[in-house]
Amino acid sequence: MCGIVGYVGPRDSQDILVAGLARLEYRGYDSAGIAVIDEGGSLAVRKRSGKLARLREALDTDPIGRGTTGIGHTRWATHGGPTDQNAHPHLADGDRLAVIHNGIIENFSELRKELQAEGVEFLSDTDTEVAAQLIGRAYRETGDLVAAFRAVVNRLDGAFTLLATHEDHPGLVVGARRNSPLVIGLGEGETFLGSDVAAFVEHTRHALAVGQDEIVAIRPGQVEVTDFSGNAVEPQPFEVSWDAAAADKGGWSSFMAKEVSEEPEAVANTVRGRIHDGEIRVPELDGLDDFFRGIDRIVVLACGTAYYSGLVGKYALEKWARIPVDVELAHEFRYREPIVSASTLVVSISQSGETMDTLMAVKEAARLGAKTLSICNTQGSTIPRESDAVVYTHAGPEVAVASTKAFVAQITALYLLALHVGRVRGALPADVSAEASEQLGALPEKIQWILDNEQERTEQLAHWMADTRSVLFLGRHVGYPIALEGALKLKEISYIHAEGFAAGELKHGPIALIEPGQPVFVVVPSPRGSITMHQKVVSNIEEIRARGARIIAIAEQGDSAVLPSADEVLRIPLASPLFEPILAVVPLHIFAMGLATAKGLDVDQPRNLAKSVTVE
Ligand code: M6R
Repeated sequence: MCGIVGYVGPRDSQDILVAGLARLEYRGYDSAGIAVIDEGGSLAVRKRSGKLARLREALDTDPIGRGTTGIGHTRWATHGGPTDQNAHPHLADGDRLAVIHNGIIENFSELRKELQAEGVEFLSDTDTEVAAQLIGRAYRETGDLVAAFRAVVNRLDGAFTLLATHEDHPGLVVGARRNSPLVIGLGEGETFLGSDVAAFVEHTRHALAVGQDEIVAIRPGQVEVTDFSGNAVEPQPFEVSWDAAAADKGGWSSFMAKEVSEEPEAVANTVRGRIHDGEIRVPELDGLDDFFRGIDRIVVLACGTAYYSGLVGKYALEKWARIPVDVELAHEFRYREPIVSASTLVVSISQSGETMDTLMAVKEAARLGAKTLSICNTQGSTIPRESDAVVYTHAGPEVAVASTKAFVAQITALYLLALHVGRVRGALPADVSAEASEQLGALPEKIQWILDNEQERTEQLAHWMADTRSVLFLGRHVGYPIALEGALKLKEISYIHAEGFAAGELKHGPIALIEPGQPVFVVVPSPRGSITMHQKVVSNIEEIRARGARIIAIAEQGDSAVLPSADEVLRIPLASPLFEPILAVVPLHIFAMGLATAKGLDVDQPRNLAKSVTVE
């Protein structure tokens, strides 16, 4: 959730921190703040509730003097509402120590009582201030900030990334992480810390990953990492594969608009280098052939949109690799004594690679003996590092809270995995593999066709529907998860009630919701696939139309059977049935974005949400 940035180096840290926060704001936007050790050696703090723009205003009216050491924070509120007092940084040790935090300190209440018994007065409702006071107290004993961190982090339960800077130590920022992300950026004579590389990618693409339960001390051009016991640790280096321009809006009205326009590229980049002479080979999976031959079950774990991509992936994995697949919400998996074994492959899917629910489920699966594979979009993030193998989606940075291009890339990666495993297990006939490779290769052009030919009409439709209070989505087979995704996207950014249903389930209850004028999107399967399935969905359309529903069909070009019954038809190019979801979802992404825009809402930063859910 919250975004964290730290800097030490020769440049004015205020500008670097605020620019870093602007790139991290997608992680949380309830409040923002910075602390800088200014040239006079004093710790200066500015913090404001609301979006980063309010902090910028505060800095314009009340600037901080030049300083070269500092930390910055953008908050998604957990403990304590989004007020100025609860905004980070929090101060301790006579206001000479500033601390910022991402995560939840689960035992904060007892620690707070302990401090209150010693006479400490708290100014905020946050768990973070408790950590700040504990570090301040430990620091007073030794005058060593790293030692103070070591003493305190070992007493904290839960999830935290903590950064601190102290007036006594200009040129030093100390950080620690447990179950929450932190990466280091290495510049020329300057060093950065960030919740993710977006915090510093405009300055450097050389990065180091901070491992679980590690403490890091950065000085200009220097890094020291130790574990929570004080043993030296060698952090893992990596290069960021994208540059700052990729994380800019680049002239688009919103990040979401830009990211939807990048859906063709996200699929193309995910497929690139993974098709060889009509065969799918994912180089990252080399060496796992024997394991793949021996697995008897796949469990897919994810949350939100990533979970829906897993539901689509199940169809492909079962069809091409012939292995039973269960897809589970990660937060449900962990707490129900799941049954997995050494012959289970657990596949986690996460754009951010930091979703706490997914991370914890992966750890639980590993503890129970399963092999874990992560499908992830973010290099250097925690879930891939905690997994035995990783297949990266190469969608590029996704900034808008609503996931779009990552979703199509996740389905693509799952298809690559299904085709790779199917080949290794001898379950995939060569002609099926060749056809699937061709279909995968053709997807980017087909998505582009939708953007070029149907975007305007879909936006117009969204504009007309701006006053709608409820929208339903129906789909069958691979169209069912697409209906769920269409509904989630609409809820998330337009705050309209939306539900997705399996079309076959309609008669078992949801049809009672249909009343005259109720808009219903229907993802229609191709008549060239299972003709029965197509006919059944057309019958479903008739059933709800008879009850007054307003039908918006998403159907392939040339499907004339839907024309008499649908009020609107949004066209998608022809594709084999398994590849239709990657096309059918595009108009739904455009529709949600169009409707939120028509309502005048912020499509990139919807209320109450954050891009990366790093608390359970
Ligand atoms: O980073 P992740 O893919 O693990 O995130 C999972 C969900 O939180 C995420 O997909 C969420 O549902 C999106 N905001 C949906 O648009």
